[in-house]
Amino acid sequence: MSRLRTLVKSGRFWTITAILAAVLIGVAVRALYEPGPMDFAGGRRVALSAYSGVNPTGAPTDLGQVDPITRGRYLAVAADCAVCHTAQGGRPFAGGYAFHLPFGTIYSPNITSDKETGTTRASTSTLPFPMTALPI
Ligand code: HEC
Repeated sequence: MSRLRTLVKSGRFWTITAILAAVLIGVAVRALYEPGPMDFAGGRRVALSAYSGVNPTGAPTDLGQVDPITRGRYLAVAADCAVCHTAQGGRPFAGGYAFHLPFGTIYSPNITSDKETGTTRASTSTLPFPMTALPI
């Protein structure tokens, strides 16, 4: 007799099957009634293309019309990039701030447009916004 037949006859097969079925049903019910990612937000839903309210990011609406340098400067200030990318007493955004971590110390890089040591020497297209806009 095969091992499967022995298992079926012993009754353990049906116990295991019942447990698996219960787990599957539980997962299915949970998936059906799970809250959606936007359920926390009230209000009427509209298609993104039909949205005409204020900018949900909180950025000033007139910022959409400004040049990339002005926008980059705004974002750098809003995101407070300087807090980590400025060493104590150092030039803003020039890096060198030490992060003492359990596995060692890392230093924030220079994210200015400096041709020798700045990160923008690689390519500004890989940056989230033009770092060349930084005021140094
Ligand atoms: C909480 C601290 C912190 C803040 C805030 C922060 N950074 Fe950084 N950033 C770091 C650290 C630390 C590294 C280096 C990570 C590493 O060495 O792996 C880094 C790396 C980078 C790099 C990669 C440089 C390279 O040579 O690859 C860029 C670009 C960068 N940051 C840009 C920004 C910008 C733009 C902002 C603001 C929007 C910002 N960072 C805000 C800590 C920070």
